[in-house]
Amino acid sequence: MNITVVGTGYVGLVSGTCFAESGNEVICVDIDQDRIEALQAGRVPIYEPGLEELVRRNVKEGRLSFTTDLSAAIEMSMVSFIAVGTPMSVNGAANLSGVMRAAEDVARAARGYHVLAVKSTVPVGTNDRVREVVARAAKHRIDVCSVPEFLKEGSAIEDFMRPDRIVIGSTSEQATAILRELHAAFLRTDNPVIVIDPKSAELTKYASNAMLAMRISFINEMASLCEAVGAEISDVRRGMGADKRIGSQFLFPGVGYGGSCFPKDVQALIFSAAEHGLDFSLLRAAEQVNARQKRWMAGRVREHFGADLKGRTLALWGLAFKPRTDDMREAPSLTVIEELLAAGARVRAHDPEAIENARRIFGDRVSFHANNYEALAGSDALIILTEWNEFRHPNFQRIRTMLTSPVIFDGRNLYDPALMKALEFRYYSIGRTPV
Ligand SMILES: NC(=O)c1ccc[n+]([C@@H]2O[C@H](COP(=O)([O-])OP(=O)(O)OC[C@H]3O[C@@H](n4cnc5c(N)ncnc54)[C@H](O)[C@@H]3O)[C@@H](O)[C@H]2O)c1
Repeated sequence: MNITVVGTGYVGLVSGTCFAESGNEVICVDIDQDRIEALQAGRVPIYEPGLEELVRRNVKEGRLSFTTDLSAAIEMSMVSFIAVGTPMSVNGAANLSGVMRAAEDVARAARGYHVLAVKSTVPVGTNDRVREVVARAAKHRIDVCSVPEFLKEGSAIEDFMRPDRIVIGSTSEQATAILRELHAAFLRTDNPVIVIDPKSAELTKYASNAMLAMRISFINEMASLCEAVGAEISDVRRGMGADKRIGSQFLFPGVGYGGSCFPKDVQALIFSAAEHGLDFSLLRAAEQVNARQKRWMAGRVREHFGADLKGRTLALWGLAFKPRTDDMREAPSLTVIEELLAAGARVRAHDPEAIENARRIFGDRVSFHANNYEALAGSDALIILTEWNEFRHPNFQRIRTMLTSPVIFDGRNLYDPALMKALEFRYYSIGRTPV
């Protein structure tokens, strides 16, 4: 099948590449000229494990190409996926200008029957609005569908190739059949294709992200209580997670959720609910807990060293909002670093992939180090914010000799407190008794 994917970010580039990998001819379109030029020159502008190799192979084999010319791409395609960004507006609503503009351009350029699938995360009712815009601009029949994306940065290719489910929001049998066929290659397991109405599909995406965000805030709130009463959150988590109705996934305490999805999607769902006269108080609470949790780290550091951090140097491992990505959007590290700098500390930071993006944000207010041990030199303590695998089993002896005092603040509970005690570190972690 000939497909156009509009938007070449984390979702669009991964989707387009995976559709090409399963044999389709895919043209990826973006309005960002630099991004398209980079892709045309063989450079992948984002870090996603395995993506570069897949892009290269599919370009070489002629199934994947990149352009800024949407009309030319649509003329050659029967299906298009819109995967442009839907960032948060000032009032919390999702900004749909990119989606609307792309939909109108697709409609105008289509030269025959076309399936336009909205993959971007959009508030309930957006497909209806897209259908109206499309009806005004199109010369041919265009079926508008909602195909929300559930991939996770860091394992996006695996998620796309082996999804837990495909949700298709459609009112057209023909479009549904085409979309089913396109996704069949990824559903050789028994995982379901769930065909529902577009509004329910739109809400399914928000419901999923909102539930995950609430789980994180719930376990973080429990962690705070554990700290207050002297209980151990890891034990509580094991005990509750063994209940099959609850499960243990997405119940890890940490320094708060971030990224380009949970914060904005939680906000957008609160906004949608309010538009319909509902106060989604559960979600507002999840958000409040998250904002507080992002401040946990600086709070602990100030408790240990005192409120004034002038003259203190802190080594920080992990900048990205989660491991295996370079994405810094809404990362807890942004809050933590700003608070530490405001208290007068110097920050020496390392991240395996996010340094370039972080440098664009902090400039020379933070010193960045390509090696994690280099960041420790002359530092008074180590702070861990992202659970990259390479931080799980470090050389503690080396950490000890490089730090001026043996203190670790662990925002991801990577280490065993008993081991830290045996190694004579002062060790703070989340929801567990400091040792
Ligand atoms: N990142 C994730 O993990 C993830 C997962 C599931 C769903 N989503 C949703 O998918 C959508 C895209 O997310 P992302 O993280 O890939 O965004 P992104 O910011 O990484 O990329 C968006 C791309 O769209 C391009 N763009 C914007 N307007 C355009 C237009 N009119 N025509 C062509 N290109 C245009 C931008 O230049 C950019 O390259 C969002 O709605 C997001 O909520 C994201």
